[in-house]
Amino acid sequence: MTGSPGYFKEKTIVITGAASGIGQAAAQIFAREGANVLCADLNEEGAVRAADEVNEGGGRGLAARVDVTSREEAGDMIRRAKSEFGGVDFLFNSAGSALRRSEFLDIDDDLWEKTFDLNVKGVFYCMQAAIPEMLEAGKGVIVNMASMAHRRGGPGTSVHYASAKGAVQTMTLGVGREFADRGIRCMSISPGPIDTPFQDISSPELLQSMRDAIPMGRFGRPEEIGEMVLFLCSDACEYLTADTVYVNGGGGWR
Ligand SMILES: NC(=O)c1ccc[n+]([C@@H]2O[C@H](COP(=O)([O-])OP(=O)(O)OC[C@H]3O[C@@H](n4cnc5c(N)ncnc54)[C@H](O)[C@@H]3O)[C@@H](O)[C@H]2O)c1
Repeated sequence: MTGSPGYFKEKTIVITGAASGIGQAAAQIFAREGANVLCADLNEEGAVRAADEVNEGGGRGLAARVDVTSREEAGDMIRRAKSEFGGVDFLFNSAGSALRRSEFLDIDDDLWEKTFDLNVKGVFYCMQAAIPEMLEAGKGVIVNMASMAHRRGGPGTSVHYASAKGAVQTMTLGVGREFADRGIRCMSISPGPIDTPFQDISSPELLQSMRDAIPMGRFGRPEEIGEMVLFLCSDACEYLTADTVYVNGGGGWR
């Protein structure tokens, strides 16, 4: 998946949401490639577990309890990666959630604000913290988690979340283009449904209707997104920036 063998050896990635699901799978994949992985998550115990797995899996892992909705904690996370590993080559913003399902008319201020704080402000703060380091190094890659939801709009269950992921995609476009001539690439991934604890808030009926809409007949696996993160960060796609990659088993266009 990389242009050059050994490309990731001793390079450093910061992964938010690394305690679970897609972030955790990505941490293991980067460990396999010999990378340094800062595993950041609100769930400290899960972050420690993920970092242990990195150390067992061929990389150097470090855990950090980070709330990405705090500008200060996002800054501390990047400073920690710099002091422990010497820099930040890659940032994967995986922390995110739909928080709960809701019909549009029942979305209240609290759900709207918490959804945007986590999914939009979290990505905004982490990118603002990492980009100065990347500018100093003259290179860097950022991968944000968007979602197929930004194309579907989340009717009946998650307009709050789909709107937030639309903002993530627009931010990705802007940041990718703003820094394109300074060695920084910024992309997002827009998955269809992936089999992780993210889906614990979905009813059996909703899960079935999502599955029915996927030509491959199954949800994606977290490592299938993690491998895409690796590819996007690699030197196999140096002309790709400011766009999203859809990974959805052929479905999700309801
Ligand atoms: N699973 C899916 O079907 C799916 C589909 C499309 C997009 N996504 C997106 O993929 C990303 C990863 O989701 P996942 O499926 O791995 O979910 P997950 O629930 O397994 O993992 C999310 C992680 O984010 C962490 N987190 C939550 N709030 C945080 C905060 N404030 N600061 C730091 N960490 C925090 C959680 O503790 C958890 O470990 C999310 O952005 C999600 O919106 C998921």
